[in-house]
Amino acid sequence: MMKKLTSTLIGVAALLSGFQVLANDAEAGHAKADVACALCHGPNGLASLPNAPNLAGQQAIYLKEQLTAYRNGRRQNDVMSVIAKNLTDAEINQLSAWFSSLKVTVEMP
Ligand code: HEC
Repeated sequence: MMKKLTSTLIGVAALLSGFQVLANDAEAGHAKADVACALCHGPNGLASLPNAPNLAGQQAIYLKEQLTAYRNGRRQNDVMSVIAKNLTDAEINQLSAWFSSLKVTVEMP
């Protein structure tokens, strides 16, 4: 009984610390995005340039893949290839966590 409770508590603690890591990633990503991304992708992830995509609410895995692709040249764009070139893996994770944490709602026409 005690052993089961202990392992449950350990499981809950691990889960919570996992969420904590994600929250910290998103916070760090927010700070970086304000400086490096908001000009075009908007402070809330809704693009402020007509030819830049919205990033708010996008899947983190997709954002990571695209930023990695810009960085390694598999995806090319005059602006994003330059911006992604100097991003570290940690920064890509943080930025992806931030934009995917923004909640968007959709209204059908
Ligand atoms: C000067 C404007 C500008 C800035 C600053 C900028 N972007 Fe972009 N971003 C763009 C444009 C334009 C595109 C569309 C590029 C293309 O067609 O591939 C884009 C595309 C992207 C995409 C691909 C989205 C998709 O739907 O496939 C991601 C992810 C992205 N940007 C993330 C970022 C992040 C993170 C930052 C900050 C570190 C950033 N961008 C800074 C203009 C910008």
